[in-house]
This record gives sequence, structure tokens and C-alpha cells, in this order.
Amino acid sequence: MYSWTLITGDTPVTTDARSFRQSLGTFPTGVCLVTTVSTNSKFEGMTINSFASVSLDPPLILWSIRDDARSADAFICSQHFILSVLAASQQQLALHFARPALDKFAAWKNDFDTGLGGCPRLRGGVATFECTTYSRHQEGDHTILLGRVEHHMRSEAAPLLLHMGQMGSLWDLARR
Ligand SMILES: Cc1cc2nc3c(=O)[nH]c(=O)nc-3n(C[C@H](O)[C@H](O)[C@H](O)COP(=O)(O)O)c2cc1C
Repeated sequence: MYSWTLITGDTPVTTDARSFRQSLGTFPTGVCLVTTVSTNSKFEGMTINSFASVSLDPPLILWSIRDDARSADAFICSQHFILSVLAASQQQLALHFARPALDKFAAWKNDFDTGLGGCPRLRGGVATFECTTYSRHQEGDHTILLGRVEHHMRSEAAPLLLHMGQMGSLWDLARR
């Protein structure tokens, strides 16, 4: 457990991990699914919001994975991953892939085909980035994975958003 001191106006406030998460949650993001295939040919997938663009030339993106996630070794060791920006209509899928399970794909196999490096590729997202793993950076309790984008595609679907721990469309979040 960590804590440090924030200065708000003239008042120092000691904060902790929960408070840190809440402050991070003020930043609105999209919601993504990342998938890979492990060295023993098992499909892995998880919901993330740590996606960011990095570079145009070469075309690089990043996301970060908690080192004690069940699928961390598979993602960190893999040569490829596919990151899909989720549509507002894919909230149930986002919730499903945010829970540990041995075969997350069983109930959703009709939503995937096969992409770069044999990774499961989601259909119907807002955008898809098929990546070769470019570099790995272990920092704190996460590993940052950079991917070199080999193929990308996009649609006009409305995105799924996350703000203050709530997921929904822009319309859903604006009404709360
Ligand atoms: C909206 C949302 C965003 C998330 N973002 C991340 C993330 O960026 N990195 C991460 O390691 N886990 C993130 N998680 C948690 C993982 O989805 C969760 O730990 C999942 O169970 C990991 O998959 P696994 O258990 O199959 O390894 C997020 C969860 C949600 C609901």
C-alpha cells in the first residue's frame, strides 16, 4: 500500500491507492479489447482502457497490463496482439472479458475471426489495430506493451466510453 501528499489549495491531503484510482478515473477514456494467442496456442483476451497512441512513423501504440493478471505471461511473451476499440453496443463483451475465466471465447466465438499471428480478431468494433509486439517495459506493477501497427481498420460505430468507473455511450454518460 502506498500513500503520498497532495496539495489542494492550501490543504495537504494524504491519499491512498483507492483515492489514486478515483483521481485517475476522472480522465474519460474509450474501452478496448486486446487479444493474443499464447505459445501453447490458447486464445487470451482482456478488457483494457490503458490504450494510447505513441508514434506515426513507425506506427506505434501502447497499452499496459497488470503483472499479476492471469493472462499476463501470454501477452508479454507473445509476438503479436490485436487491439479493438469497442463500440457502445459491446458493453456486455467488455464486462465478460474483464473477468478471469479459463475460456473467455467459448460463448463469443461468432464475434471473432482470425487475424495477425493467429490472434482472435473481434468483428464489429470501432477500430482494430493488428500489431507486432515492438517492445516491453516493466514499470511498477504493470508492463507497458508497445505494438507496431501492421494493419488497421475503422468503422463509424459509436464508441464505448469509461468515466468515473461507469461504462456507456456518450449519451449514457452525459445523462448521469
Ligand atoms: C474498463 C476496464 C479497463 C481495464 N483496463 C485494464 C488495463 O488497462 N490493464 C489491465 O491489466 N487490466 C485492465 N482491466 C482489468 C482486466 O480486464 C481484468 O483484470 C481481466 O480479468 C484480465 O484478464 P485475465 O484475468 O484473463 O488475465 C480493466 C478492466 C475494465 C473493466
